[in-house]
Amino acid sequence: MNGQFHNLAINRYSCRDYQDRMPERSTILQLFETVRVAPSAANAQPWHFIIVDKSPLLNEVKSCYAKQWIQSAPLVIVALGNHNQSWRRADGKEHVDVDLSIAIDHLTLAATDMGLATCWICKFDAFKCAEILNLPKHLSPVALIPLGYPADSPDTTRHAKQRKPLESIISFNGL
Ligand SMILES: Cc1cc2nc3c(=O)[nH]c(=O)nc-3n(C[C@H](O)[C@H](O)[C@H](O)COP(=O)(O)O)c2cc1C
Repeated sequence: MNGQFHNLAINRYSCRDYQDRMPERSTILQLFETVRVAPSAANAQPWHFIIVDKSPLLNEVKSCYAKQWIQSAPLVIVALGNHNQSWRRADGKEHVDVDLSIAIDHLTLAATDMGLATCWICKFDAFKCAEILNLPKHLSPVALIPLGYPADSPDTTRHAKQRKPLESIISFNGL
């Protein structure tokens, strides 16, 4: 291990203040080349991402999240799970949220690698969002991901890296 990936994981943080600067379309496309290669159950790739960078639609999508800080984001990615395409285990468990989480993790890490910043948002009004985007029933919004160049830094954010100690989250050969 050369430590590069570990450093990337450390450097990713939830950004809640963005510069007034729109990422280039080519940068966004490059970012999604990394998202595209994410693994998924049965390789179903049950996802679609709507990149919203134009108002009034952008403002409408932002209104699905109650916190003021989202206003600074130049664009918001709406991560959609496709329930018609996702793999189900024999016991019926659908894996769309698992798959989306992996893809979004690729997105947030790749963005960090490119000098961009993101924040997962799940505490949003998903029904309102689906209505605004006129989504068919089989596509459900899983997360909103603001994307842009950071105006804050990891040290100044509310959630500085506070993590459980290693010994409390792993055990060998049983609990
Ligand atoms: C599934 C998920 C949902 C989240 N939803 C929100 C959210 O709605 N609003 C918010 O401000 N942060 C949200 N976060 C960000 C977390 O608060 C953040 O990841 C955590 O506090 C650790 O901080 P860090 O990302 O800066 O390392 C979410 C993160 C995850 C993984």
